[in-house]
Parts: sequence; structure tokens; C-alpha cells
Amino acid sequence: PYNDISSLEEALKSNRGEVAPVILEPVCFNSGAILPVNGYLEQVRELTSKLDVPLIFDEVITGFRLAPGGAQQYFHVQTDISVFGKALGNGFPISAVVGREDILSLSAPGGRVGYGGTYNGNQISLAAADATLEALADGQIQTKLSNMTSTIIEWVREAAETERVNLRTQGIGGQFQIYFTDKEVRDYREAAGINRAMYSDLQRDLRLEGVLLHPDPLFHHGVTASHTREDLERLVQAITKHLRKTP
Ligand SMILES: Cc1ncc(COP(=O)(O)O)c(C=O)c1O
Repeated sequence: PYNDISSLEEALKSNRGEVAPVILEPVCFNSGAILPVNGYLEQVRELTSKLDVPLIFDEVITGFRLAPGGAQQYFHVQTDISVFGKALGNGFPISAVVGREDILSLSAPGGRVGYGGTYNGNQISLAAADATLEALADGQIQTKLSNMTSTIIEWVREAAETERVNLRTQGIGGQFQIYFTDKEVRDYREAAGINRAMYSDLQRDLRLEGVLLHPDPLFHHGVTASHTREDLERLVQAITKHLRKTP
């Protein structure tokens, strides 16, 4: 499980020589919004280095959003390979695999692993990525997204306390998710164990208020640079209205 360094250590040690890479989302946004516990990613790096297993971060969601240098910069952990998409093109289709030259050169022209694609190097996507990366380079947008997420977390926490409803909003950078539970969600199984019926009720009521939450409680939500304080107020007002009538 994510956030469990002992189980990773055991799996790697008992399969020594058999594991090609360790690949993980540095923040588990595909189970909602599960943050690494203090030191977890550093421990994963230390362990994989010690056992000579390449470490890959799937930064498709975290890349360029947590920081201009993604999760690697944010958590001060350097990977062997990282993959990017989404924010890289700001809506235009593009992805990137970056990392150690000795690994990537295996798939370079003439390398041992063939690699090709019709849209590789697509000019329009590259122009979009170029413009996007310029806009994201100084970190101001990331700071804005992070502040908005913190505001949502804080306001929803206050509303839940006032209305005495057990929930937690977890998030980082521009992404967050609301879990109906009374303790921190640290891995997929804990996320899967939250109160799904309460989430569905919230989702239904918010839809009636014109706010669309994803119907899957293990999905996550995000703010964009275009969102305003008024948007956040509208979201939290709708959540508060729902919590007020929650038994
Ligand atoms: C963390 C993560 N990795 C990879 C992917 C797949 O990316 P793509 O749709 O560009 O293949 C997604 C898609 O949502 C994702 O969330």
C-alpha cells in the first residue's frame, strides 16, 4: 500500500533482481487526494537507490502543478524517470517521459527498444506546451492554486465543525477531495472505506445547486488559474447548505 514503506521494502527484498522499476503517483490523486506521510517519498527513494531499482514518478497530475518542477521539486526527491501530461499542454494533447540518459537512450533512435508515434513532436501541441511552460515557470500560478485549495480545505472544515459532520478535505497544490470520514485517509483501502452514501448525497445536492462534483468518491477535484474567490464562496456555500441538513 501507498504510505507503507515496510511493505515496499519487503516486496523489493523478497523479489530482489526481479523488479524492473517502482512506479507511483507521488500524491495519490487517483484515490481522491492522498498525501505522502512525512518522509515517505524520501524513504522510497532511499530504498530504491539502495536496492538499485529505478524510481518512476507518474507526474501526470502533479507535474507543473505542485511546483514548476512538479512533485520532485516540491518534495525534494529526485527520480530516475518521471512522466508528464495534462498541465504540460494546458488542454492540448502532449505527454513527456523524462529522466536518466542511460535509461532513456535505450529507446532513442537506434536504441534497443523501438519507440515511435504518429503525433510525436506535434507542432501545435509543442507550441501550446512552450507557451504553457512559460506561464508556469515563475511559480505564481502554482501559489495561487495552492492558496485556493487551502482556502477550500479551511472553509469546508469550519462548516463541517459548525454542522457537526465527520468529513475531511484533503488536498495539495490545486487538487482536493472531500472524504466522509473522521481520520486522515492514507491509502487506497482507507479511501475505499469512507462513507460513500454521504458523498453521493453531497454530490446530488451540489448538482441541484449548479456545482458539479465527480460522482466517484475516489476521484478528485481541482481549481484552475481562472477560478475566483467568488467561485470558492459559491462552492463552500453549497456544501454548507447541504451539511446543514445532514443528520
Ligand atoms: C496519474 C495519471 N497517470 C496517467 C494518466 C493517463 O494519462 P493519459 O490519459 O495522458 O494517457 C492519468 C489520466 O488521468 C493519470 O491521472
